[in-house]
Amino acid sequence: MLEASFQLKMAQENDKQNQNRTLVLFAREKGKSWEIQNAPKDLKSFVSDLQRDASKFADLKKGLFFRNTKSQGYKNIYVLGYTTELGLESLRRTAAHAFQYLKAQNVDNHLYHVGGLAVAHKNLEELAQAMAEALAMSDYSYDELKSKNDDKFSVTEVACVVPAKANAKNFQKGFNTGLVLAQACNMARWMGDTPGNIMTPIKLAETAQQVAKGTKMKVTVWDKARIKKEGMGGLHGVNLGGGPDCRFIIMEYNGGAKSKKPVVFVGKGLTFDSGGISIKPSQGMEEMKYDMCGGATVIATMYALAKLGAKANVIGLVPATENMPGPMANKPGDVLRARNGKTVEVFNTDAEGRLILMDALAYACEMKPAAIYDAATLTGAVIIALGNSYTGVFTRDEKVMGRVKKAAGATGEWVWHMPINDHHVADMKGTHADLCNISSFKGAGSSTAAAFLEQFVEKDIPWAHFDIAGTAWNIGNRVNYCPKKGGSGAMVRTFVELAKSHA
Ligand code: BES
Ligand code: ZN
Ligand code: ZN
Repeated sequence: MLEASFQLKMAQENDKQNQNRTLVLFAREKGKSWEIQNAPKDLKSFVSDLQRDASKFADLKKGLFFRNTKSQGYKNIYVLGYTTELGLESLRRTAAHAFQYLKAQNVDNHLYHVGGLAVAHKNLEELAQAMAEALAMSDYSYDELKSKNDDKFSVTEVACVVPAKANAKNFQKGFNTGLVLAQACNMARWMGDTPGNIMTPIKLAETAQQVAKGTKMKVTVWDKARIKKEGMGGLHGVNLGGGPDCRFIIMEYNGGAKSKKPVVFVGKGLTFDSGGISIKPSQGMEEMKYDMCGGATVIATMYALAKLGAKANVIGLVPATENMPGPMANKPGDVLRARNGKTVEVFNTDAEGRLILMDALAYACEMKPAAIYDAATLTGAVIIALGNSYTGVFTRDEKVMGRVKKAAGATGEWVWHMPINDHHVADMKGTHADLCNISSFKGAGSSTAAAFLEQFVEKDIPWAHFDIAGTAWNIGNRVNYCPKKGGSGAMVRTFVELAKSHA
């Protein structure tokens, strides 16, 4: 499923095959001008001519494409400027820019010269990983449901030239890791982009089983009857609104020592959110097929960890259902009982994410984990607060937040620490049950939702909640290796880093 269309080839500067390749050269910003470091020896005069022509450098941020440069040893040469402003993330964005430009020019055979980049990023393994992530994530598109696909063009070959004295093995290793991570992100995107009539809870569970094939991961799926028997009144209750039956997906991967406590990831797998009886406005409702993106993040994270053979014990949990307004649906005022015995009155059936997550979080605690991280497209309010660039992270635990920031720093994904306090908890107090699923006050919608979830996590278990409502799709205007329209794969790479940080 969703293999990248290309594999990495290592190349030499004087490779005969370069006659068929388009060389990508990176020019580093240096004050008001640019410098091409460690350029191929056979390009000395090409590069010095270019560097002499100051007028050209204004365009370097967009890139300069020199066609039919066979006399230089390469089919074409593309020179692109880059800054080191965002560290490895600058590199990802520069590599993505080059890939997308060349793909748009129908160039199928790319040769990236990393000599210049390696001056700024000494760790070749990290550099290669970031490049592979950006290139393969840039290659994603969802068009399997189009009957005509004439404009589909594939990049068939990606080769890299590494600096002369560098260890090519390190580069290859990093590149392979990056490809797995990109594949995992693309898989999460694919699950999100697949429409609700196809990506049902049943299909989501089958996808989890499918991605586990050939890995050491074990997948267990509970059906509706089992979910009811297990006391998951929230997941079962939301499913009563109609649509296909619900599923509870359990993925287990043990790559660490037996004595080590697992890390548990929980993801909201709401395959379509109509709002239920508290029905949503029709405008934009089609986007609610993406309401399972938290679940997709978790499934893709588990895939990547198993594929990479991470030395960690990890469990992934995904409660999956539609939220529909059928005759048996929850009515405002109905009371549901969670797996841990707490009761919840449903004042708004559109606040259903927390109802299915409460059971999954209670179950996660039974695993006696080292930490719990959940991802959910939980609130529209987080989009008001943070837009589509930052994922809101909710935890009262500064140590957990430190770990999250470190992981997100490594992947270049943007997270922002958001508050939960006792007032938010008090705002969720029920009238005729323990809790109410909406706040009794206006505002702070994301914090009250997080405070609700917190009531299902035992106090001594480190926990953070990621509200990805703003970042799970349509973030291409912020991050160029993500599609302008469609799933982003947000937090997959950060979750993988988090799991590794517990190893
Ligand atoms: N899935 C939605 C949240 C959402 C909205 C995600 C828009 C992405 C884009 C969630 O189930 C929901 O509807 N939440 C309500 C909660 C409210 C009723 C307290 C919301 O945010 O309006
Ligand atoms: Zn909803
Ligand atoms: Zn929802």
